[in-house]
Amino acid sequence: MRLDHTTLSKFLTQELEGSADARNLAALLIDVASAVKAISVTTAKGGLAGILGSLETENIQGEVQKKLDILSNTEFVNTFSLGGLVAGIASEEMENPIAVEGNKRGPFLTLFDPLDGSSNIDVNVSVGSIFSVLRAPKDRAVVMADYLRPGREQIAAGYALYGPSTMFVLTVGKGTHGFTLDREAGDFILTHANIQVPADSSEFAINASNERFWEPPVLRYVSECKAGKTDVRGRDFNMRWIASMVADIHRILMRGGIFMYPKDNKDPSRPGRLRLMYEANPMGLVVEQAGGIASTGRGRILELAPELIHQRIPVIMGSRNEVERIERYHQEFDAGKDKSYSSPLFKERSLFQ
Ligand code: F6P
Repeated sequence: MRLDHTTLSKFLTQELEGSADARNLAALLIDVASAVKAISVTTAKGGLAGILGSLETENIQGEVQKKLDILSNTEFVNTFSLGGLVAGIASEEMENPIAVEGNKRGPFLTLFDPLDGSSNIDVNVSVGSIFSVLRAPKDRAVVMADYLRPGREQIAAGYALYGPSTMFVLTVGKGTHGFTLDREAGDFILTHANIQVPADSSEFAINASNERFWEPPVLRYVSECKAGKTDVRGRDFNMRWIASMVADIHRILMRGGIFMYPKDNKDPSRPGRLRLMYEANPMGLVVEQAGGIASTGRGRILELAPELIHQRIPVIMGSRNEVERIERYHQEFDAGKDKSYSSPLFKERSLFQ
């Protein structure tokens, strides 16, 4: 064993020592990690385990469910319902949260996306799981309003990345820390303590096929990046899009950059693609705890008052100076100070604001 060998359990014991509440949270995070290990084993088997492909079913968002979406959901639900640490479980794959009652009830609520980036499963590209932890009410049944808390009230959040190696990245509000799965030992080992997102970056991530649906501030930002050295940015930019939020944000945590799934007019009933409660909020806390910013373009994601458990919102997160620049472009556009990208598509402000 190396002298600096810190397992996830040892880290959590040190980080969350003291109250019974803190010890319970450590135990819950160890439960999350154990579900992640099981999902990691299954994803690594790929076609050998018969887990590729879709089912006949759709989730509440109208998306076709993949076999691995359901297997991963079941893994988390079983872990949480038996662990004695949660009073309720909400998931992207379930229309309504599940209550955990009786002697299995615990002090927390968990919300998660069991398998993020599902379109990557069948092509053997990185996928992830995302989780968020809130406090449950003490002496009464859990109601929907208990889940619909602003992201700043999360007491822990994080993700697992099933890539060439499996990583578990988490925050309990004291920085963001990354652990790598040692498959032989079956332990997560601290490999990335106190991750810091560089404040500046020359890399952006966005699904450019949606360009015709974007709002002017995003068009402005991306076109300036693409114009590179000879234009206002004075330097060349690189673009990456993995189509798995976990993998894209992980790259940004490692080397900086900006991730955008902004507001667009593709489907006016949806003010964004990503889900607030189990995608944007947990990833937002992870990014903020690493010194980055998580914004809708018009405000801090973690301040939003949620209305629905499966609510979608615009997401712009990553390197501080780049996110601040895009927020400024939104302010200038909203104040009528930036006419340079007033595409006819966005003349009807009421439609898109
Ligand atoms: O549903 C979430 C998600 O899969 C994210 O992980 C990812 O960033 C995004 O959707 C990909 O969207 P698109 O298919 O439009 O590239």
